[in-house]
This record gives sequence, C-alpha cells and structure tokens, in this order.
Amino acid sequence: HSKLRVLSGIQPTADSFHLGNYLGALRQWVRLQDTHETFYCVVDLHAITVEHDPKLLRERTRRSAAQLLALGVDPDRSTLFVQSQVPEHAQLSWVLECQTGFGEAGRMTQFKDKAAKQGTDRASVGLFTYPVLQAADILLYQANAVPVGEDQRQHLELTRDLAQRFNNRYGRTFTVPEPHIVKDTAKIYDLQDPAIKMSKSASAVNGIVELLDDPKRSAKKIRSAVTDTGREIVFDAENKAGVSNLLTIYAALTDRAIADLENAYADKGYGDLKKDLAEILVEFVTPFQERVRSYVDDPAELDKVLARGAERAREVSSATLASVYDAVGF
Ligand code: ADP
Ligand code: NA
Repeated sequence: HSKLRVLSGIQPTADSFHLGNYLGALRQWVRLQDTHETFYCVVDLHAITVEHDPKLLRERTRRSAAQLLALGVDPDRSTLFVQSQVPEHAQLSWVLECQTGFGEAGRMTQFKDKAAKQGTDRASVGLFTYPVLQAADILLYQANAVPVGEDQRQHLELTRDLAQRFNNRYGRTFTVPEPHIVKDTAKIYDLQDPAIKMSKSASAVNGIVELLDDPKRSAKKIRSAVTDTGREIVFDAENKAGVSNLLTIYAALTDRAIADLENAYADKGYGDLKKDLAEILVEFVTPFQERVRSYVDDPAELDKVLARGAERAREVSSATLASVYDAVGF
C-alpha cells in the first residue's frame, strides 16, 4: 500500500523565508513527510518571470534549499531539488502550453494582477505562462495531492483541466491531482498592519519577521507589534486582529491550543504575551540559523544533497516526459 505523492515548490525570491512562509506552508512540508511521499522543489525557473539579478538568484536558491533543510525537510525522506536542474520541467511546460487556450491563460487572476502592476509590455510572456509551468511541475511527478492556499486554487484548477484534457486527447498519461487542504495551517498577518498578510512585499519592514534576521531584531518586532487599546488576551480576529495574530503565531510555534493560551494569559497583559512570544521566537530561530549556516558554510555538501535530489526527481520526471513525447508523436 503505497503512500500518496505530494509535490510543492517555493520561489527563491527573498533572502529569507518569513514567519508566514513557515507557519503557512513550510511547516506542513515537514509534517507531510510522515504521511506522504514528498517532492519539494525550489522553483528558480519561476523566479525569472520577473526582472532578477543572476548573482542574487543563485545565492537565494542555495539559501532557500539550506533553509528547507534546516526547517526539517529530510533529503533521505523527501526528494528535494532545484527546478532548473531538472530539464523536464521546461520541456513538459512547452507541450502543455500547446494544450492551453490563450484566453484560458488570460483568465488567471494572478497574472492579471501582476500585469496590471507592471504594465503589459514589461510583464513577460513567462509571467503569462507561469501557471502552465506550475502545472508541469506537478504533473511530471504524477502527484496525487498538492498543498494549496486560497491564492493557488485557480492555478491548481488549470493543472487539473490540463491533465484531464491531455488524458482525453492522447490517452491516459497524467494523474489528476487533488488539492490537499492542510488543517493546522496558519495565516499570519503583518505585525504592524494586521489587516494584511505578512508578506515579503510588505511596505512596513517591521511588520515582517524573517527567519534569518538578527533574532534580537525579530524579538523587538514582536514586542512592538500593533495591538489595540483593550486589555483582554482573547482571540477575536475581527476586533482584536493584532492580538489574535500574536496568539496564532504563539500557538503554532508551541503546538498549544489558542484556548489554552487564553487561559494561561487570563490575568496578564499584552506586554507579557509579547515578551514571552519574543523569547519563544528567539529560541526557535537561533538553532535554525545555526543549521542554515552549517549548510551555507559547506557548499560542497549542499551541492551533493541537491544533485542527489535532482537525480531522484529525474527518475520520475524523465519517465513521464517520455510517455508525453510518445503520446504527442515525438
Ligand atoms: P510572499 O507572500 O511573502 O510573497 P510567497 O507568495 O512566496 O510569499 O509564499 C510562499 C508560501 O508561503 C505560499 O505557500 C504561501 O501561501 C505561504 N505564505 C506566504 N505568506 C503567508 C502568510 N502571511 N501566512 C500564511 N502563509 C503564507
Ligand atoms: Na505572494
């Protein structure tokens, strides 16, 4: 009885992952290793759909891999690889582009949002076909499930449509993936503006906690998080968004229930909550940063891990691509 297969990817577009990336996605990557056959990739092909600096991209790709390893992605249990090291992603993407309607791709809201910001002449064709490359990422591995947040639902729907369409046209080739809704995944909000999600593109630098930032600075950000004029430490996302966000982070980092925290802090103030959470955060990031450093300081070892991951990925991806090429008449 074999395990269901999961694929997920993350872009190397920041110097550090932030608390939202970890608690909203990467923590589940680590946990899924217990129950699923896991394929995880640093999607550097996706990262060049917008203007980028080559040196920075190379560095961020390595740092992303090092952070994934430091967070608990185990290269013996997961296939961890860098997308550009597996040429089948780009190869399958082309075939799938030829199965995708121009209008169909044009309806992707993420592209429309990004193109509206950049202007259609500056937005690349790669940005337009980004969701098709994402479909290739998933379908190459015959993934049964893809962990998805709300923002990726439309893209997964396109992936499913493309898989079904290809199977109907050319014969059964792809597994049609299901969304994997992860339960205990947390949505983390900006510490300075809890109405918006914590994001690398946040305008207020104090609203985001980067895992690789100086722990003292991160602790200070937690201690100066925006709350409200009340005193009660209760979860109320609508009226006490700041406090609720701190409770969410606290609960996630300690694996405690929010109700348990509300009880524990019934007679305490916001200052106590922030001070304790700041300490918990420092205890989490300090050993994490040491582990990241050990990978960054040993580039040969990191290269070896990634080369082995790419090799394992290619065992699956090359078999899928071969049947796709055969199916379309190559
Ligand atoms: P950003 O929003 O900083 O650009 P990405 O879009 O690269 O981050 O997100 C990478 C992963 O982290 C995605 O799975 C996304 O859903 C998750 N994620 C990002 N920000 C948050 C957040 N504030 N709370 C929960 N999950 C998040
Ligand atoms: Na984003």
